[in-house]
Amino acid sequence: MRFLITAGPTREPIDPVRYLSNRSSGKMGYAIAEAALEAGHEVVLISGPIDVARPRGAAVIAVSTSDEMFAAVGQHSLRCDILVMCAAVADYKPAKVSKSKIKKRSENISLELIPTRDILASLPKDRQYLVVGFAAETENLQANARKKLREKNCDIVVANDVSRADSGMESDQNEVEILFRDGETKQIPRASKKIISRDLVRIFEKYFEKRLTKKTQ
Ligand code: CTP
Repeated sequence: MRFLITAGPTREPIDPVRYLSNRSSGKMGYAIAEAALEAGHEVVLISGPIDVARPRGAAVIAVSTSDEMFAAVGQHSLRCDILVMCAAVADYKPAKVSKSKIKKRSENISLELIPTRDILASLPKDRQYLVVGFAAETENLQANARKKLREKNCDIVVANDVSRADSGMESDQNEVEILFRDGETKQIPRASKKIISRDLVRIFEKYFEKRLTKKTQ
């Protein structure tokens, strides 16, 4: 299978020295890339700026902003079997990027933010590849993740609770709940991101095979 995986945060520039971003470490996306390679798949990894060693054997496309990630996904999804949108894409970006460094003053300043493009939600409806979204939640995990699956038209959503300090963002461990389009759910109990990624890759492979069999029947 040809995997296209996005990982890490995006950076939305404010001026030449400042940006808006989030705490994503990229570890989950990189671990999925490693697990897919280990299982013999082809991997293209679209990565936001992070400090994790590149998985050997993956084609890595380095991006910084949500617009760059949007363009890279548009280009590379044309030849993939599965898109795994693990990246923590920024939801907002500054309405204006200042060309020069914003100087400090004594009064308050405010920053106008505009929504970024939602990469998942803008994928074509008639695509041939599988789409896996991620849902980072701090409350009502299942309900919020189910809503994302429906609204962003995903085949699978991997949901995790990011309110806990010992799993999810930045951590080496995670605990996830997987929701499928047909209403089925699966849990993967707390384990290292490496172990969870191997399980996820097996689950994606099975789902892909099932879909192929359905198509050829
Ligand atoms: N996502 C995306 N483009 C965006 C924002 C998010 O493609 N501009 C994708 C993420 O890669 C992830 C999924 O949407 O696969 C859900 O991201 P998440 O941050 O959990 O949810 P949001 O849609 O940003 O909603 P909220 O922050 O309100 O929970």
